[in-house]
Amino acid sequence: MHSITVSAPGKLMLLGEHAVVYDRPCLVTTVNQRLALEARLLDDCLFQLEAPDVKISNYKKSFEDIGKAKIPKGAKFVEIAVFNFMKKYKFSSGIHINTITEFSPLYGFGSSSAVTVCTIKALSELFNITLTDKELFDLAYKTVLDIQGKGSGFDIAAAIYGGTLYFFTAGKKIEPLKIKSLPLIVGYSGVKADTVTLINQIKEKAKKYPDIIDRIYDHIAELVEQAKQALLAKDWVRFGELMNMNQGYLNSLGVSTEKLEIMIYATRSAGAYGAKLSGAGGGDCMIAIAPENKKQAVRDAITKKGGQIIDTTTNCKGVIIEKYD
Ligand code: MEV
Repeated sequence: MHSITVSAPGKLMLLGEHAVVYDRPCLVTTVNQRLALEARLLDDCLFQLEAPDVKISNYKKSFEDIGKAKIPKGAKFVEIAVFNFMKKYKFSSGIHINTITEFSPLYGFGSSSAVTVCTIKALSELFNITLTDKELFDLAYKTVLDIQGKGSGFDIAAAIYGGTLYFFTAGKKIEPLKIKSLPLIVGYSGVKADTVTLINQIKEKAKKYPDIIDRIYDHIAELVEQAKQALLAKDWVRFGELMNMNQGYLNSLGVSTEKLEIMIYATRSAGAYGAKLSGAGGGDCMIAIAPENKKQAVRDAITKKGGQIIDTTTNCKGVIIEKYD
């Protein structure tokens, strides 16, 4: 085998963001927009990366320097994933990696987690290392924590397992949910959010109001449990109401924005069962659940308020091998 191409899906948080960082559950689904990664071994002891979507071109360094010195933002997740894999399995070989993303890294669809998962998956195939999904999760999650210092790992699990998951902090529980699809509409707010900044913002608030924030997380956990049942029963009315309640809590944590609220309220007025922000907040995307006969009105409401509709289907395949050359 000379080269391998793998791909992993983007994700959308359904309910439970932020609380899931602190020992609580969440619900996450995957989208049909994917990130593809091609990897091949090199005779020279070099690490090379082409990632045009994150403005990385002709990036190369010698193998001994992988993971060292200043790494450009767009190269971090791939480089540290290569470093962690090579260190754990004691390999040293030159490697060339190419990535192509079907979604904008601005949407908050999880391009960093998808690229981390794809890198480790591709290397495990190239070096004939059999990894279980959980072993792949652990190494990819370590990589994300090495870089960001924080995160629940839900996005890593989504990229690996695909479908729709009930997920508990750090992968203590990863339960695929048997559902077909979700009547979901996705609107991008036009603002890029930074997850770590928002997590830190709530952390500051929690210093001032520790019990209140902790109880908010407990309430979010409770509504995630109920939403899981509603999801399995395809009870979209109830699922929508729980989304609205979750949004209220996210608002009280301070991570919603005026633009997100305007889009969310507009979709509810247009007939959505429920709507909320998806992910860290501060921008990125909002999601709405709507009956079939209201979907167009909900989409129009988002565009009218300056949001961008992202056409997507949910509940898609996790990481897969696309081809060997
Ligand atoms: C960000 O998309 C979701 C957060 O809960 C962070 C995480 O779970 O890693 C804010």
